[in-house]
Amino acid sequence: MLRSLTIKNVGPAPELSLEFGKRLNLLTGDNGLGKSFLLDIAWWSLTRRWPAELNASLASGYMARPKPGENASINFSFTTKSGKVERYESKFNRPKQAWTGRPGRPSNPGLVLYAQVDGSFAVWDPARNYWKKEGNIDVQERQPAYVFSPKEVWDGLRGEKGEWLCNGLIRDWASWQREGKNAFKLLERIIRMLSPSEGEKLSIGELTRISIEDARDIPTLKMPYGEETPVLHASAGVRRITSLAYLLVWTWKEHLAACKLLGEEPASQVVFLVDEIEAHLHPRWQRSVVRSLLSVVTQLARAAQVQIIAATHSPLVMASVEPEFDIRQDAWFDFDLVRAQSDKQGHIALTRREWQRHGEASAWLMSNAFDMKSARSIEAEQALEEAAQALSAPNFNKTRAKAMHAKLAGVLSDTDPFWVRWRYIGEKKGWLE
Ligand SMILES: Nc1ncnc2c1ncn2[C@@H]1O[C@H](COP(=O)(O)OP(=O)(O)OP(=O)(O)O)[C@@H](O)[C@H]1O
Ligand SMILES: [Mg+2]
Repeated sequence: MLRSLTIKNVGPAPELSLEFGKRLNLLTGDNGLGKSFLLDIAWWSLTRRWPAELNASLASGYMARPKPGENASINFSFTTKSGKVERYESKFNRPKQAWTGRPGRPSNPGLVLYAQVDGSFAVWDPARNYWKKEGNIDVQERQPAYVFSPKEVWDGLRGEKGEWLCNGLIRDWASWQREGKNAFKLLERIIRMLSPSEGEKLSIGELTRISIEDARDIPTLKMPYGEETPVLHASAGVRRITSLAYLLVWTWKEHLAACKLLGEEPASQVVFLVDEIEAHLHPRWQRSVVRSLLSVVTQLARAAQVQIIAATHSPLVMASVEPEFDIRQDAWFDFDLVRAQSDKQGHIALTRREWQRHGEASAWLMSNAFDMKSARSIEAEQALEEAAQALSAPNFNKTRAKAMHAKLAGVLSDTDPFWVRWRYIGEKKGWLE
């Protein structure tokens, strides 16, 4: 469980500092302010590995580069398997081009999962990616983590010697379905739990073939219009969710199997980092995704404490967590570009915002989370500003009112509250005759 993080002279801001909530942590902020970067740093802090260094086909998750000429540091604290809080300090060593740290094996923070925005996925499993060389015992090197490119999630992940580390969604799903045992039942249940709504449950169809050249049996999903669609042809939203469901089942199943071999208890902590949690999802789905992911992970790892750190661009995601948000264990962090008068370029500030209910998505759009002045079109927003100014101008008259009326009529909807008010005032004052 990640507790705190402070980074200096690395990334988009000179300094960022956070104290995480124990359960749900939401990150908001404009494009390019550091949400994904922060998730990369969180992954590294817990695993001491950069995703792109473990899998060269990734196009994100590179090692954090310090600002030129500055002393850079990453300090963090986390709760270890035994419940102890451990602090860790790392400085960037320029001649070695590497992050320094305490020598020896890092402590075990539990299971760490990272869903990146492009469909890449990384898993660090304390039972499989954690080992220690001891005295004269010949302990073999193990895999440092499992880092999948989007394609490898579907087709499988190979190790350095060409061995299969993971069979991938297509083969595993098909063989679980043929066996019809626990893994398949779990996958089926998780896919149902992650479906957009009660009335739109995703369900699994029969295995099929999609081409003469591909000898694999391809899993299918039953579509509401009656067809069974091979998962490889499914829409981006359905694929995002089914691949998350598969990876959660695979990770947990393999973790339990490894724990059994090692004679260890399963992880008591799970940290799940998710970038753009609403990626590819229709608003109806955006409204349920945080709650359903939280309950899936909590049910999967029943005895474990689950921490989610998720970035979002979606006002609906923020509105949807209102009933769930608990200030004792959840937190919301907001990145902003702040422009002080003395600071021509502006700088990035990260604020832990006090949780407030806004009630609906458009109110969230206009809150600190998204800093929009309006949820209308740009043209409508401008016309409204003009109308508000015109109304208070001393020389406002019927001719100007008529011109403004035509402009507003061209951009506002018939039910827009401003439009309704405008027409009421206009009629009362006799401007619109
Ligand atoms: N490995 C790295 N080392 C140093 N700085 C980085 C690294 N990766 C990203 N950055 C910096 O972080 C900035 C923010 O990028 P990031 O991808 O985190 O934005 P974001 O908030 O996720 O935006 P978006 O909403 O568009 O996804 C980049 O412009 C870059 O300056
Ligand atoms: Mg991002």
